[in-house]
Amino acid sequence: MWKPPERIKYTAVEDDWPDRSEAAASLLFSPLRVGPLSLVQRTWVPAMVPWRSNEAGEVTEDVLQWYERFARGRPGVIVVEATGIRDVPSGPLLRIGDDRYIPGLAKLAETVHRASGGKTRLLIQLIDFLTIRRRPQPEKFLDRFLQITPAHRRALELEDAPEDSVREHLRSLDPEALQSVLSVKEWEDMQYGYRERVTDTQVPAIAELPATLPGLFARAASRAQQAGFDGVELHYAHAYTMASFLSATNTRDDGYGGSREQRVRVPLEVYQAVREATGPEFAVGCRFLSDEIIEGGSGLADARYFAHRFADAGMDFLSLSRGGKFDDAKQPKVGWAAYPYTGKSGYECMPGYISDEQGPFGRNIGPVESIRQHLRASGLTTPLVVAGGIFGFKAAEDILQSGQADIIGLARQALADPDWFEKVRTGHGAEVIVCRYSNYCEGLDQKHKQVTCELWDRKDLDEPGIALSQDGKRRLLAPLWERTP
Ligand SMILES: Cc1cc2nc3c(=O)[nH]c(=O)nc-3n(C[C@H](O)[C@H](O)[C@H](O)COP(=O)(O)O)c2cc1C
Ligand code: SF4
Repeated sequence: MWKPPERIKYTAVEDDWPDRSEAAASLLFSPLRVGPLSLVQRTWVPAMVPWRSNEAGEVTEDVLQWYERFARGRPGVIVVEATGIRDVPSGPLLRIGDDRYIPGLAKLAETVHRASGGKTRLLIQLIDFLTIRRRPQPEKFLDRFLQITPAHRRALELEDAPEDSVREHLRSLDPEALQSVLSVKEWEDMQYGYRERVTDTQVPAIAELPATLPGLFARAASRAQQAGFDGVELHYAHAYTMASFLSATNTRDDGYGGSREQRVRVPLEVYQAVREATGPEFAVGCRFLSDEIIEGGSGLADARYFAHRFADAGMDFLSLSRGGKFDDAKQPKVGWAAYPYTGKSGYECMPGYISDEQGPFGRNIGPVESIRQHLRASGLTTPLVVAGGIFGFKAAEDILQSGQADIIGLARQALADPDWFEKVRTGHGAEVIVCRYSNYCEGLDQKHKQVTCELWDRKDLDEPGIALSQDGKRRLLAPLWERTP
């Protein structure tokens, strides 16, 4: 993971926890209307992929236990991890691309509603992503994956040679010479692994995305509704298809790229289809970026524009993230796929404790405040969710009191201590296990290993009946909180 060159180390310390009556009087622990939903408190656990599903993309017992553990903490909202809307093999990523997933998802919704005593509203994040392949062995790439073109033949002056000799010649070139013969895209496919983009409109399925995505998202949302979820979060953030449509790097010339007005069209058409499929009683919102943090990408001015269009179209909430792009990802090792949280944009998405002068805490607050001001100035009251390095009650309450955001998202802090919400609400804040922002969890995510937190995953390993990771070395769930009176 990329780290700011300043390498300043920060420690997350909170010593200003409220007592029970202060918590009861706070905005954080007061109700809020989010479209058709009433939240009992203004807290939110953003989507986090924990790699608890299986190759079939099903709700497993591990998935149920994972979300049950969060539900015991009774946050206002839990957003279930990014869940694939297509019925295609996607490794152990949770899926919602067919009706056969509904019974498992229904169990998940029932589990969370029950374990939270009906206090937590449950959303599911719907994701679409394009093909990405592992970085190939250079020889394999040149022998098998590369399509030999007239351009290669011309560059090598091998116009009439058999294809095998062209490949053999390419293999014999030093890297510099090879780079000059391959196109920019071919060189990148060899160095990073093949990756589709929304601008690859020569590929029919990509050209047709504006026609296919609304139906795919709408059917997935309808399944979530049938399964008993309270709503869906459309994943328009980070490195995935919908964010790529919004990106300033989207240069499609079919009316769905170029200007902001055109880039926002597919996301709006997806939203309309989802709303039509689910009706007004089902919460529908999206997660998108306050800034892509990449060269030539969308920035805050774009985000303000998109927020306005989404709110105006009737979305029930807007959740803001930052960065997390493939564009500046590190080159993966041979045999590995690029991971969109390894560059500067990845750092802005999940800031770690080794940071710059600004530090890792609350880096998204200013941008979200600016977006909120823009909406409120236009008379739009859509609630905004902020996340990124927020761990303490005081900071959370200040954000709400000063009108910087409407709902507080705690992702890694909730992973470090799923009981944060109940502890703070009941005056036991001093017992909170505060996240270190070490990004140990994110490292596990990168390797598609079961995600756990270093602050609890080696604790009480001999506890009878606890679930352990595949290697048997880590517990999969945070120990239960033994409430003090
Ligand atoms: C293990 C892990 C998995 C994540 N998976 C998702 C995801 O599925 N969808 C998403 O929008 N963000 C995902 N994120 C990003 C978080 O939702 C959140 O935006 C980020 O961690 C910053 O918030 P925090 O500082 O409160 O952790 C993930 C983060 C972690 C640590
Ligand atoms: S491993 Fe735990 S302490 Fe480290 S960032 Fe993740 S949640 Fe926080």
